[in-house]
Amino acid sequence: MIKINNICCIGAGYVGGPTMAVIADKCPNINVNVVDIDEERIKKWNDKNLKNLPIFEPGLAEIVDRCRDINLHFSISVEEKIYEADMVFISVNTPTKKKGLGAGKASDLRWVEESARQVAKFSSGHTIVVEKSTLPVRTAEVIQNILRSAEQDNHRRGISFDVLSNPEFLAEGTAIEDLEYPDRVLIGGDNINAMNALHSIYSRWVSKEKILFTNIWSSELAKLTANAFLAQRISSINSIAAMCEATGADVREVSRAIGTDSRIGSKFLDSGPGFGGSCFKKDILNLVYLAEYFGLNEVANFWQSVVNLNNWHQNRISKLVVKKLFGTVTGKKIVVLGFAFKANTNDTRESAAIQICKDLIDEGADIWIHDPKVSKLQIEKDLEMAPIEQLEEIKENKLLSKIGKWRFSKSLDIFDKAHAVLMLTEWKEYKNIDWIDISKKMMNPAWVFDARSITDPSKVESANLNLWRVGDGTSK
Ligand code: NAD
Ligand code: UGA
Repeated sequence: MIKINNICCIGAGYVGGPTMAVIADKCPNINVNVVDIDEERIKKWNDKNLKNLPIFEPGLAEIVDRCRDINLHFSISVEEKIYEADMVFISVNTPTKKKGLGAGKASDLRWVEESARQVAKFSSGHTIVVEKSTLPVRTAEVIQNILRSAEQDNHRRGISFDVLSNPEFLAEGTAIEDLEYPDRVLIGGDNINAMNALHSIYSRWVSKEKILFTNIWSSELAKLTANAFLAQRISSINSIAAMCEATGADVREVSRAIGTDSRIGSKFLDSGPGFGGSCFKKDILNLVYLAEYFGLNEVANFWQSVVNLNNWHQNRISKLVVKKLFGTVTGKKIVVLGFAFKANTNDTRESAAIQICKDLIDEGADIWIHDPKVSKLQIEKDLEMAPIEQLEEIKENKLLSKIGKWRFSKSLDIFDKAHAVLMLTEWKEYKNIDWIDISKKMMNPAWVFDARSITDPSKVESANLNLWRVGDGTSK
């Protein structure tokens, strides 16, 4: 049995950070080093004030508090920590390629390749290399080729490698719970000793029947497939939401009715503003690219339609807001509640709020954004536009009512003279809003657009506000 004493994880992001924190917590005898080239991110991981960790996940700060500087370390010492490790996890970003072959669909593997080269160059003795990032099928071959040429390098005699695929299934906002109580752990590989070494880590807290062994290619494809199936359910229910609005049905009732069928199941049937997050779109597009590569055009078209429906649905919401506000939002104040792609995370990658806010700003709206965890700076990056107080043309002249603009508020005291409230993230603080009180401050007539089904319709309506809820064909 190969014994693992030292782990190095390349990439201290949304996956690397929480995953390694849980491994360190569950395996006190293993020394876990998380390394990253992003010095700022590492500084935040080492910040004494746990509120400043770079990632917000319920339960994460407590684990970091228990393990940091004991058997969990964050640093930029990539070379040194690779050298010391018996097992290296590659947990770097794999975004969609922006340029070159496969641009717009294939994953950009430059960070994975760079990590493999670093492992080839700095490792010592036998190293098990674990793909944690989500990768296109047969990427392990690329990593193996890089490592094999290092093994054959005369100057680096005595080093050897095994490559495993161990995709991560955690969801943001519930990362710690998902890691502590996973539905399954997938280990793909061809060397049973290396697979057992990784098994021996997870089996400290995951029951053995939940740790699945597969070949490496099945493991890589299973990860893309799981995300594609989940995203497909959301596009399916969002397509039905539009049908409900057209026919007088209610998507919540339809979801409940179909979710009780044990073959369908009740999870992932909440209609919303369209799926966001860094992975669903990227992983489906990757699947589309692979299908096209293998000449499976019908397969490619099938999965592409899941992304197309999602884009259409987001666009449908901003159009609908404009339509309900008498065909124009120019100069109108719209309060946007929530900017993260889902509740309980500060992540905004691919959040539906980005496109919807951009569309409304293009239409001339005055957007006031609130989110309990997302920073103003992050919103500025996502909207590719400075907030109102920094807009020079607004400071200098009177363009105020003609151009769209946005501002950020940390407080919820922002409803004064608003024409509409648009709810885009299901934060719990939005569930108890006192609509009677707020309606007194808003314009008359005013609208509440609830894209997350978190309001109680009777309370909104008794406050004399117009309500649109996603997939609610009964409120016309
Ligand atoms: P991320 O962008 O948050 O983190 C990746 C980190 O890797 C960054 O901090 C970056 O600086 C670092 N990095 C890149 N190249 C490096 C190098 N050569 N050396 C050291 N550090 C390097 O990404 P993420 O959200 O953690 O996702 C990582 C992978 O996990 C992706 O493949 C993603 O598809 C997959 N995944 C993500 C989630 C999720 O919820 N975010 C869930 C499951 C799987
Ligand atoms: C998703 C998967 O759930 C994880 O298993 C996977 O590991 C991860 O992607 C990944 O590979 O990155 P995540 O994106 O963090 O996790 O969050 P989800 O809970 O899946 O939500 C994704 C999007 O779908 C969010 O915008 C969410 O609001 C939306 N959603 C989810 C709905 O609109 N309706 C639902 O019923 C569920």
